[in-house]
Amino acid sequence: MATSTDFPASMLKTAAISARGVEMTFQSGRQSYRVLGGIDLEIQPGQIQLLMGPSGSGKTTLLSILAGILTPTAGSVKLLGTEITQLSAKELAQFRLKHIGFVFQGFNLFPALTTLENVELALNLHGIKGRPARLEAQLLLEQVGLADKLSLKPRDLSGGQKQRVAIARALAGHPKLIMADEPTASLDSHSGHAVIKLLQQLAKERQATVLIVTHDPRIMDVADRIAYLEDGLIQPGVG
Ligand SMILES: Nc1ncnc2c1ncn2[C@@H]1O[C@H](COP(=O)(O)OP(=O)(O)OP(=O)(O)O)[C@@H](O)[C@H]1O
Ligand SMILES: [Mg+2]
Repeated sequence: MATSTDFPASMLKTAAISARGVEMTFQSGRQSYRVLGGIDLEIQPGQIQLLMGPSGSGKTTLLSILAGILTPTAGSVKLLGTEITQLSAKELAQFRLKHIGFVFQGFNLFPALTTLENVELALNLHGIKGRPARLEAQLLLEQVGLADKLSLKPRDLSGGQKQRVAIARALAGHPKLIMADEPTASLDSHSGHAVIKLLQQLAKERQATVLIVTHDPRIMDVADRIAYLEDGLIQPGVG
């Protein structure tokens, strides 16, 4: 008789991110524009998945759907086993805060706050306040190599340093999912690669699952898997 032990462990694991038949059609006036035509994607816990494809192919749209920022026209999205398309707006906001760390192309740091305060603010949102928040923010910034930049404002940091602050902030609250849209687009080749390597190393240490949208072929070597999006579909047989 077959028992569950007959299956390889990988088959029993719940995918960290699972999309099934995800479709997205944008309406503008009478026109409708189909961007995603039935996406199936599974990302296992602890994996680093890249999502590549030409400009306008729907990468940001798909990432936004997988992050619960945008509701798909059809299909299922499960994050850590939870069907997020069934959650209320409030539940979704709580889910995102608790489980997803974001890194954006433009850093999205608060210009008036120091490096330390930018990370502290993210911890405050997770309910960590006062001295514990300060200590945790220091620790996170040490991990990304910015221990000597705590009191600088974003304008006094290089692009790579700003992106490292953004990574420290995304890791606040120990999210199990990290999602990044073009995180190296504002960086030169060297800092882009260094930033992605750091993200990879920290994600592996924390057993977080990472989804990175990128055009950047220089960061392909950090990926466990690569998916190519074209014509609204994940192209088979590559990655
Ligand atoms: N809110 C919207 N309303 C209408 N069309 C949209 C909307 N958002 C995106 N689109 C369209 O969907 C398509 C895919 O956009 P998306 O931003 O996902 O592409 P992308 O692959 O991230 O491109 P890039 O590499 O240039 O960032 C584009 O043609 C875009 O114009
Ligand atoms: Mg995009």
